[in-house]
Amino acid sequence: MIPLVKPFVGPKEYKAVARVLESGMLAQDKEVKAFEEAFADYIGVKHAVATSSGSTALHLTLLAAGINPGSSVITSPLSFIASSNAILFAGGKPVFADIDERTYTIDPKRIEQVITKHTRAILPVDIYGLPANMDEILRIAKKHNLLVIEDACQAHGAKIGKKKAGSFGLAGCFSFYPTKNMTTGEGGIITTNDTSLARKVRLLRNQGAEIKYHHKIVGYNFRMTEIAAAIGREQLKKLEARNRKRQQNAAFLTKHLANIPGIITPLVPEYYTHALHQYTILVTNPYPLTRDELMNYLARRRIGSGIYYPVPLHRQEAYKTFRFGSFPVTEKVTKEILSIPVHPGLSQKDLNYIVETIQTAK
Ligand SMILES: Cc1ncc(COP(=O)(O)O)c(C=O)c1O
Repeated sequence: MIPLVKPFVGPKEYKAVARVLESGMLAQDKEVKAFEEAFADYIGVKHAVATSSGSTALHLTLLAAGINPGSSVITSPLSFIASSNAILFAGGKPVFADIDERTYTIDPKRIEQVITKHTRAILPVDIYGLPANMDEILRIAKKHNLLVIEDACQAHGAKIGKKKAGSFGLAGCFSFYPTKNMTTGEGGIITTNDTSLARKVRLLRNQGAEIKYHHKIVGYNFRMTEIAAAIGREQLKKLEARNRKRQQNAAFLTKHLANIPGIITPLVPEYYTHALHQYTILVTNPYPLTRDELMNYLARRRIGSGIYYPVPLHRQEAYKTFRFGSFPVTEKVTKEILSIPVHPGLSQKDLNYIVETIQTAK
């Protein structure tokens, strides 16, 4: 079986975990601090604050940014539910703006159409590892005096020009779930140049306390463990090389799939560096199989594939009491998207087999 995703942990991570276990210090301490410093340095921001997950990173950031009942936050309907749940957890209201059909990221033109007097922030999602159209989003945010919080949970190492995902707005949030380009088992991190925001999220992460048992505010336990941070430090060292392998794999796939009628390969806009968390094609007419048929066909030939996401956020059962409106591009794309393996563990033989299988399907 060629799996769709494959976390890579090796002897360096085993050793790092053993070092932490032997130290006797398992909860947030020196390893977390060192990981935060290394990650902030890598993204090119002043502060990084590690958390228990990407979901809690988003939740804390929205709270610290002052999102509250009465605030609306504009985000993409094509995302993992953690993006919009974070807005709800802070007390705000998610408002969706449809995506661009070729990049799958939120369409700036549609953001402007849904801004109201309640809008406080935009939460673009760098879906599949491609940064959203941040130039336009930042321009709109400035014009309407809105905050920008980037959901970079899938975009470790992605760039626009030389600027990394996670460094564009007030803050960026990353996930280190095992399927991501780098992992800590479970974990997340907030990146920001805003010293006051960094201080607030640190407080909220740790029960509202800077000094033990002296709680300045009502906070949470959203800390990262030392074990997770020690894994993260090793994974970060490998990220660039592994992303390069993803990009090479993607280039090979695009070279051989782009000319198949009906298969639409991912677009990487000029000056953008895609982190290729997922390589997502559209399966459309006149390709001989529907998206679901191709998915089954690949499974029969032992190639993993996935749909991210089969149900757009505005159609989730959990949100059935909300009225979000309709998002035709997202609806259409949701029926056609298919993510196929691109991870750094693929061999040339695997890549050839994937391409041949898709080329010869009837
Ligand atoms: C776009 C997006 N946002 C948020 C999250 C939440 O991250 P986590 O699973 O680490 O809580 C994820 C990851 O699953 C994600 O892909």
